[in-house]
Amino acid sequence: MKKNILIIGSHGFIGKHLAKSIQPKYYTSRKGGPYTLDLAKPSLKTLPLNEISHGIIAAACTNIPYCEKFPQETHQINVQGTLDVVKELVDHGTFPIVLSSDYVFDGVKGDYTEASPLSPINSYGKQKAELECRIGEITNGNHLILRLSKIYSLERDDGTLLDEMASTLNKGLPLQVATDQIFCPLSIIDLVKIVLQLIENNHVGLYNLGSLDKVSRFHLAKTLASALKLPSTKVIPIQLNSLNPSFSRPLNTSLCSEKIFNLLDYTPLSVKQAITTIANNFKCKENCTRSEGVFPMKPGDSATDFEANDDPIAAGAIGEK
Ligand SMILES: NC(=O)c1ccc[n+]([C@@H]2O[C@H](COP(=O)([O-])OP(=O)(O)OC[C@H]3O[C@@H](n4cnc5c(N)ncnc54)[C@H](OP(=O)(O)O)[C@@H]3O)[C@@H](O)[C@H]2O)c1
Repeated sequence: MKKNILIIGSHGFIGKHLAKSIQPKYYTSRKGGPYTLDLAKPSLKTLPLNEISHGIIAAACTNIPYCEKFPQETHQINVQGTLDVVKELVDHGTFPIVLSSDYVFDGVKGDYTEASPLSPINSYGKQKAELECRIGEITNGNHLILRLSKIYSLERDDGTLLDEMASTLNKGLPLQVATDQIFCPLSIIDLVKIVLQLIENNHVGLYNLGSLDKVSRFHLAKTLASALKLPSTKVIPIQLNSLNPSFSRPLNTSLCSEKIFNLLDYTPLSVKQAITTIANNFKCKENCTRSEGVFPMKPGDSATDFEANDDPIAAGAIGEK
């Protein structure tokens, strides 16, 4: 009987955390072992799909400005290559799980449900929307799509959303943060647990997946400064569009994720709880709980290579994905 879970993109932020928890026998990255897979020209031929029950595709081009600049090249990765992998999985009886994004919406109204019409406004969002729309042609509905809000971890120094904000504030540096970008940041711990529960219970379909809190980056930074007992004067409110972006980013991408939480009877970590944990990481100096590393992390890996570094303004101001 098939029982293994395959993780495609095991060197990425989400892929690494999934791999740490699942300890899969089969996982891929673009370079290095044990299995390689490039979505630009994907093939699963070297993998024993007859032993693999579920394939989680956590690989993608997540560099949003790059998607905007090279829409065809990244379409091949984020849409066509991903669908080709889905087809190969399905052809071998392996259940596909793909990760989408709240960027499939224009961010005008917020509070999007699974039934809200898609309305992407940039290339990355359009690619994710196309992936969502076309996957059913291949799977006949027998798939999982998790439409994610921003995912963060609670680990010190991993550069994800809250850690990066806390680190900037802790250094006494100013933090420019948008007041008008609303989202539902979710802990990676919750994401991993939810993926495992969905697999265990053979759930199918499309699910929004963000926390139950709808917050702005400004709110997050102010609350974090207060939890760190640092002056909130370093938290500088800005409007997203004042950054004069070369392309549009959706403003209010808040998701209604009750469907999945009701289905699994699951309560995710609140933003308030997460901020308390992050602040504690920074408060204790000598004994602070540093990241223990996550399988199969390599030295020099960064959780948010693109997300954190693709904008000259503090990444906390806008962030991506
Ligand atoms: N993190 C979030 O907040 C968030 C929010 C919404 C949606 N998502 C979605 O969740 C998924 C995982 O995101 P993430 O944050 O883990 O992204 P990430 O840290 O950028 O990792 C993505 C991984 O994709 C791999 N990749 C890039 N181009 C590839 C290609 N041509 N072929 C094969 N692999 C390729 C890279 O692998 P190598 O290291 O091997 O080069 C990278 O490790 C993505 O689909 C993303 O759109 C994430």
